[in-house]
Amino acid sequence: MSKEAQKQQAAEAALDLVENGMTLGLGTGSTAAFFVSALGARVRHGFDVKGVPTSEQTRILAEKEGIPLTNLGDAGRLDLTIDGADEVDTSFRLIKGGGGALLREKIVASASRKVAIIVDEAKCVDHLGHFPLPIEVVPFGVRVTQQRISELLGVYGEGEVNIRLRTDQFGEPYVTDGEHLIVDAAFNKVTNIEGLASSLDSMTGVVDHGLFIDLCDMLIVGSDNGVRTIAKS
Ligand code: 5RP
Repeated sequence: MSKEAQKQQAAEAALDLVENGMTLGLGTGSTAAFFVSALGARVRHGFDVKGVPTSEQTRILAEKEGIPLTNLGDAGRLDLTIDGADEVDTSFRLIKGGGGALLREKIVASASRKVAIIVDEAKCVDHLGHFPLPIEVVPFGVRVTQQRISELLGVYGEGEVNIRLRTDQFGEPYVTDGEHLIVDAAFNKVTNIEGLASSLDSMTGVVDHGLFIDLCDMLIVGSDNGVRTIAKS
């Protein structure tokens, strides 16, 4: 089964968590897009939900699918967020931000009673770090911030560290919905993930990062052997 089919399978299984009347956080990326499309089909059959999109890309898709939207200010606490991830480890810690939406994704996940993460099997890893960690930074002083991130990863990472400013298809710096830049930090392995996350949290110039710790309650994994749903105990 292809990765895309596994993603779709996980996304469709996540619909079982959605109840009439819920306000939902809508994630970003190709897996989350499968969920938004499946949810749209339900809404067109009379399902009554509201969504808070985590990116402009998801907002456009949700509007096209006819899903009523609201914002965090009006919604307050969300019932459930369904989002994808770039990597998930055995402690339900995530790397997110491959699609550039990590800041809004983290805000929405933090405002949710429950977060379910939908992934294909290849995203499940023993140690986070094969996927470069996206770090959202302010444009002012970006070179200095990049240097400080590099030094920090030298302390926390094992093996070679490679820090790269993300660019778009035209080779220009990639700009997020919040008008920040993204630095992708490749490191081989970090044993102290919590330490790295809290050091990045307090680094001047860093807006946020793609380490999501204690922000995933349930994993829904699409695989060749069907869908596996694992709740965090
Ligand atoms: C976007 C994200 C996505 O959830 C992550 O990149 C996974 O994307 P995909 O479902 O396309 O593999 O964090 O910022």
